[in-house]
Amino acid sequence: DKIKVLEELKTIGLVPVLRADSVAKALALAEAIAAGGVTVLEITMTVPGAMQVMRTLAETRPDILIGAGTVLDPETARMCILEGAQFVVSPAVNTKTIEMCHRYSIAVLPGGLTPTEVVTAWQAGADVVKVFPASAMGGAAYLKNLKAPLPQVELIPTGGVSLHSAMSFLEAGAFALGVGSDLVDAKAMAEGRPEVVTETARKYLSIVKEFRAKA
Ligand code: 3PG
Repeated sequence: DKIKVLEELKTIGLVPVLRADSVAKALALAEAIAAGGVTVLEITMTVPGAMQVMRTLAETRPDILIGAGTVLDPETARMCILEGAQFVVSPAVNTKTIEMCHRYSIAVLPGGLTPTEVVTAWQAGADVVKVFPASAMGGAAYLKNLKAPLPQVELIPTGGVSLHSAMSFLEAGAFALGVGSDLVDAKAMAEGRPEVVTETARKYLSIVKEFRAKA
């Protein structure tokens, strides 16, 4: 259920943002990431055949927690939920999308950047607010500043998160980290080196583990 999904997101501490230009490439990336132990994936709506990617993963990899990303409207959210998405992410706040997710008891993570946007998302029923684009706004220091007056609001910084900045985002109070290109490395895949992606996934997990051990 939704509580379990949120617990799993927090435990793994990562939300890989999967962007790829075909179903086959998306599935190969998913396998490479999961091989490193990161069993959470956000399939973005910019992937051609994104619905098929979610359906295939839901059928063949029940161990992977599947989310839908870049969901901008309630119709798309409903389609994704019916294909097996267990959480829905958006770069912005769309209250109708939040209502649709509530209707299906699915975790919803809308995007917000300014304090007003973050609080608007939270009051509209966000389970976690995706702070996007986090690095462009100042990175971990920005997240820490947001958390000071809003400690009750769970935040997932996304956009420019890297192995280098991951620990500082966790220390700033991130619920989990949204990681795109630094982990979901299309170049390594194109070069036939999925093990690079797998190794990066492992490195991210060990940073989360190290943080939890000292927290
Ligand atoms: C995205 O929209 O793809 C995510 O925000 C990830 O961004 P990143 O590639 O900068 O991590």
